[in-house]
Amino acid sequence: MRAAPVWLILLPFLSVAALGCTLHPKIEERIARDTRAWGEAGITEDLVLSVSKHCGSEQRILEQHCHTQVQRILIQDGVVYLNNLIPNYTLGPHEGIGFLVELYEASRVFKLPDVEFSYWLDDHPPAETVLRPDGSVSWPYPPYGLPPMMAWSKSDDNGVLLVPYSGAFRCASDSFDALEAQLDELTRIPWEEREEVAFGRWNAFCTYYYTSHMVRMADGQAVPCPRTYLNNVSDAHPDLVNAYDLSRGKPVPLAHQNRYKFLVSTDGWSISSKFDKYLLLGSAVLRAASIRFGFYYPALSPADPDDLTADAHFIPFMEKHRDDIVEAVQWARAHDAEARRIGEAARVFARQHLVRPARLCYIFRLLTELSKQIRYPISCQRRKLCVPLVEELKFLAKYGTTSSTCIYGELLDKYGATDPAAAPGDSRYEELRAMHEDPLHWPRDDLPA
Ligand SMILES: *[C@@H]1O[C@H](CO)[C@@H](O)[C@H](O)[C@H]1NC(C)=O
Ligand SMILES: *[C@@H]1O[C@H](CO)[C@@H](O)[C@H](O)[C@H]1NC(C)=O
Repeated sequence: MRAAPVWLILLPFLSVAALGCTLHPKIEERIARDTRAWGEAGITEDLVLSVSKHCGSEQRILEQHCHTQVQRILIQDGVVYLNNLIPNYTLGPHEGIGFLVELYEASRVFKLPDVEFSYWLDDHPPAETVLRPDGSVSWPYPPYGLPPMMAWSKSDDNGVLLVPYSGAFRCASDSFDALEAQLDELTRIPWEEREEVAFGRWNAFCTYYYTSHMVRMADGQAVPCPRTYLNNVSDAHPDLVNAYDLSRGKPVPLAHQNRYKFLVSTDGWSISSKFDKYLLLGSAVLRAASIRFGFYYPALSPADPDDLTADAHFIPFMEKHRDDIVEAVQWARAHDAEARRIGEAARVFARQHLVRPARLCYIFRLLTELSKQIRYPISCQRRKLCVPLVEELKFLAKYGTTSSTCIYGELLDKYGATDPAAAPGDSRYEELRAMHEDPLHWPRDDLPA
């Protein structure tokens, strides 16, 4: 295994200016487009507070568990605060925690602007936020406009702002960052020795946008559920496709999937976090059609068999018809140099735009653009609860169900002691634990007392 990547060693010594922060122009463009959703009126305080109305009654908390879905966040003078705390019984998964860890790192590497927003914890993008093609929005709680909300995956029909799926990028043992750190090893299998088969594994799972026929192919048919239909394709073409759900195929660790020239990615509720990692492996990635996308997808180019000179990062399928993966694999086999180039381009892209410094830069840029839309004074004094994020991370690092969810130590060791927002030692632990364990805890700033 290789030593820590160079940027990880250098990070503490680099100033913001030296680190630089330049995104792919297409990613910048998406940020500009998404943060423009509020138009001239901008983001008013009532929009931000409508998120609490989403969870405004004891009945909604108890029956709909709305207080498990949203994390409210406020940034003032570069310090990140939380305005609610997630109930202990849903704490654990890295979806929410990973973003908090990454946001904290971003706040220590960059001076973040004053801004306020929420992070959506469910992996289903906020179905209650609707964004129509004409730009109009709806949200069921007064004043019915769009609250500034972040999520790691979305479709064009909802108005959230995209952030990295930080949990999968940095928390899990097979996270993107962990794979990136052992890239020399992963790329040791030469292209020529990789099997000319399209390999894929996943949990059998059919999400509503496939079952309700929301994704269409060029032949006018609806895209079948890729995660089940590919079992059939694999049965029919075992020499070309080995893409099964886990009831049919044995699991293979990600780090061993570089044995194959072609890797198949399919989405679930949200974008597949495996897709990010596949881009690193040097194989050509085949991606099933989906309505979901993540923060960097606008910068990716699909392969175009009619234009082999163009840069491409993946090979799309279920675009023309339900079995076109067969033609895609046959094409890739017949165009070995092109397929190899797609795998290489994907890796170069991932190492430039998906590595941790790039993700921190993205968060900085997104928050900077978002802050320009805010039309009221951002202040903790206007909030019932403002827990410094560093204290929440100290709590998570110690609490039973979250202590091993992500790697907290590397950040708390580096920044915790010098963070002016941090309280001495564990002095606030019990207070935070009590709030997390209070089944009705939610700061209802906006609701009548
Ligand atoms: C959450 O806190 C309550 C109250 O202290 C406790 O009874 C329960 O076991 C905790 N649940 C988890 C999953 O930690
Ligand atoms: C896939 O194969 C199964 C089992 O052979 C069959 O029942 C099912 O109809 C097939 N699905 C499609 C979409 O062809």
